[in-house]
This record gives sequence, C-alpha cells and structure tokens, in this order.
Amino acid sequence: MPYTLANFCSELSATLKAKGQNGLPDIARKLTELLNNPDFVAETFSEDTPIGRRELWHDPQTDAYVLAHVQEGGKTGKPHSHGASWAIYGTARGVTEMIEWRRVNPATDAGAVLEKSRQYALGPGQTRGYASGAIHSTAHPQKAWVIRVTGTDLDTIPRYRFDAKTDKILEHV
Ligand SMILES: [Fe+2]
Repeated sequence: MPYTLANFCSELSATLKAKGQNGLPDIARKLTELLNNPDFVAETFSEDTPIGRRELWHDPQTDAYVLAHVQEGGKTGKPHSHGASWAIYGTARGVTEMIEWRRVNPATDAGAVLEKSRQYALGPGQTRGYASGAIHSTAHPQKAWVIRVTGTDLDTIPRYRFDAKTDKILEHV
C-alpha cells in the first residue's frame, strides 16, 4: 500500500498529540515515506506548478500545516529561525542545501554572532526536523519541489531573520 497524504496527516496529528516536538524525528521519517510515493509527488507538483507555496493540509487540532513549495532555482536564503514553531523540511525533487547555525554570543547582546554548525544537502526523499528556535538557512541552486511541515501558521508569529548588516555571520568555523 503506498503511503498517502491522508496517511501522513493522520500520523502527523497523532504523533504531535502524543509526543509534541519530541515526535519530530518520527514525523520526518514518515515524510520520507510520503515523498517516496511517486503518486503523491505527481499529484502535488507538476512542471507548470508556479513558484510559491500551497497549503496541502491544516490540522485544526494541533495547528500544524503541511505546505508544498516550488522553490525558484539560484536562490539563497538568510539565516532565520521560526521563533516558537518547529518545522520539518523534505525535498520531493531537486536539492535543498541546508546550513544550521548556532549563536555564539549571549542572546542579550544587540547583534547576533552566528557560526555554522552543520551543512548538508537534502535530496529527493530526504527530510529533517528543526525544533523551535533552531537557526537555519536554505539554498536552492536549481528549481526544487519541497514539502514543509510547520507547527503553526508562520505568518502569524514572530520569526527571526539574521542580517549580515547588523549581525555577524561567520562563514567558517
Ligand atoms: Fe526555515
């Protein structure tokens, strides 16, 4: 039996209710299973799906969202965290280049000093969870199809973007 979006959404909701953010690795594994279902990918994305994001599902009970993004190629994002929300990223096609950052100066200092802690690529079927407050940045060298699962509507909560003008971003550790 192929693992469907409906399967994923019901397990997402059940895992969040049972484990909260501790369930992120379980949910990330389930997202891999979903991304490995070619029918799901074909139903969700096509060559002419426009750049941008689309809501696939919202869980009224846990407030989690499942979002489908078409990322434009040649784009590099700035380091950011999703504030109080967690997120899971999974790639359906193409590559998501990911950098995890850590802040090396006290949170009470006005500007952040960020240091790279991990750098890797998430290729097709690869997923990873990021707890609330985890600082990360993404880049898409080519157009990519991405599924992102978030703990709430990120447009309604404060998020933190780090800026090279006011913050110090150390490129090498
Ligand atoms: Fe993010």
